[in-house]
Amino acid sequence: MTKRVAILISGGGSNMEALVRSMQGDHPARAVLVFSNVEDAGGLAKAQGLGVPTAALDHRTFGADRAAFDRAVNDILEDAAPDIVCLAGYMRILTPAFVEHWAGRMINIHPSLLPKYKGLHTHQRALDAGDTEHGCSVHEVTADLDGGPLLGQAHISIEPGDTAETLAARLLPFEHELFVKVLRRYAKGEKAFVTLG
Ligand code: GAR
Repeated sequence: MTKRVAILISGGGSNMEALVRSMQGDHPARAVLVFSNVEDAGGLAKAQGLGVPTAALDHRTFGADRAAFDRAVNDILEDAAPDIVCLAGYMRILTPAFVEHWAGRMINIHPSLLPKYKGLHTHQRALDAGDTEHGCSVHEVTADLDGGPLLGQAHISIEPGDTAETLAARLLPFEHELFVKVLRRYAKGEKAFVTLG
């Protein structure tokens, strides 16, 4: 049976776009919802252009009440009844109840070679550490921030003169390729580790 996929974003949504475009033909899944916590996120217009239903809810209207916001997001998601939730540049720390609810059904892309550089500013931190290699990871989401089981990684080399901006730009197409590849397999129940680059 075709799997239903919801994609959560906070920004431009290039990973979301790659995922949506991949879910065609013999792909085992289809996008049923793109949700954002940022009402004017660029990715929402892209999703609409691709014919995917969208929803948005501004987390700021919930103040510091993360639990209430996540419950509201959960209600929106449940209306779309996804089998899989993809976090594609969704810049929110999730509450334990939300993570628990979607456990085993939620995957995230992170712009580092986890377990290195959990959290933010991953490109700059790789440069500051003098790394010669960088990359991205897709993992299952658990209560451990950016620490769930890895499903795949893509590697790129760090070149002399690289900045956080050049690294981010060079990594992005690999993020798209990796996320697309992992989702296709994940939708078939395959969790074996994927390597790119
Ligand atoms: C991507 O680089 C993604 O890996 C990162 O946000 C960017 C979103 O770009 N995610 C995180 O940093 C999560 N901690 P996009 O909106 O163009 O897909």
